[in-house]
Amino acid sequence: MESLISKIQAIGTKTLADISAASDLATLEGFRVSVLGKKGSLSEVLKGLGSVSAEERPKIGAAANEVKAKIEGALESKREGLEAKDLEQKLASERLDVSIPARKLHRGSLHPITQTTRRMVEVLSRLGFDLLTGPEIETDYFCFEAVNIPADHPARDQQDTFFMGPGLVLRTQTTAIQTRAMRGKKWPIRILCPGAVYRKDNDATHSPMFHQLEGLWIDKGVKMSDLKGTLEFFAKEMFGSATRVRLRPSYFSFVEPGAEIDVSCFKCDGKDPSCKICKGTGWMEILGAGMVHPKLLELAGYDPKEVSGFAFGMGIDRIAMMAHDVPDLRLLFEGDQRFNSQF
Ligand code: DAH
Repeated sequence: MESLISKIQAIGTKTLADISAASDLATLEGFRVSVLGKKGSLSEVLKGLGSVSAEERPKIGAAANEVKAKIEGALESKREGLEAKDLEQKLASERLDVSIPARKLHRGSLHPITQTTRRMVEVLSRLGFDLLTGPEIETDYFCFEAVNIPADHPARDQQDTFFMGPGLVLRTQTTAIQTRAMRGKKWPIRILCPGAVYRKDNDATHSPMFHQLEGLWIDKGVKMSDLKGTLEFFAKEMFGSATRVRLRPSYFSFVEPGAEIDVSCFKCDGKDPSCKICKGTGWMEILGAGMVHPKLLELAGYDPKEVSGFAFGMGIDRIAMMAHDVPDLRLLFEGDQRFNSQF
């Protein structure tokens, strides 16, 4: 019996020394298995208990339990110590340097066309215009027929229009929205229609896709002077209070009379013969306009003797180009980040 007890105590003494010398968790676990595991040294010794007399067995059992408890206690406290050391090492090696400059954030910005459109709409909506959009794939009827461009009119030429299928075109002008807007709706009507339009054209000042802003105001007693006042207000708000407006007679099938409208050059006001914006003329042609043709009113079911209206249409892209000194229209549509990020 003595020899079993001293074997047990010897295992205890050696194991406690091993545990205290262990320098990492894996070694520690190795000791636990080699002593307390199913085939561990302590378990092996206890297998010999069968040959011991019944009265001695409890004493040996008690000695074994005492040693086992000591070993478990030592394992536990050593494990805690080693884990704390591991954590400390981890914290030291995985340290974050919060003083490193942050990565640069790339903020998006509105495209110059969007900026210009919003500005134009903002100015005109102060006069009570509402916003209205229409489809870019438009019927031949709304794009041409309803705005008084008959089937044999040169404006429909294959050279200009993208045909999409029987009776369908890519709209060539936002004027296409006018009859749509009036149809089935009673006057007064006061709308702005911004949007993309399409024509077969491509050079430094023409793109197959560009943008227009259409305006339409229909009511009792609307006069040419209302048109002029509206455009004067727009020009002064858009280009500065010194801006002047001039109307030149012109022809558009959907208005009578029709006019082309120039605004005085906001860059040189006619004082610089080499001005890139007005080319030395002092004037910039920015839009077409006129009094809505009685035919359009009739198509909408209105009585031209009862109501009248004016309409105007202008290119948004050219105004954006003038405002930002952009030399080539195509730059606006290439999506080049080096260009776009300047706005
Ligand atoms: N739709 C014309 C164009 O694309 C511009 C225009 C002229 C619109 C006169 C109008 C207008 O509403 O009255 O050139």
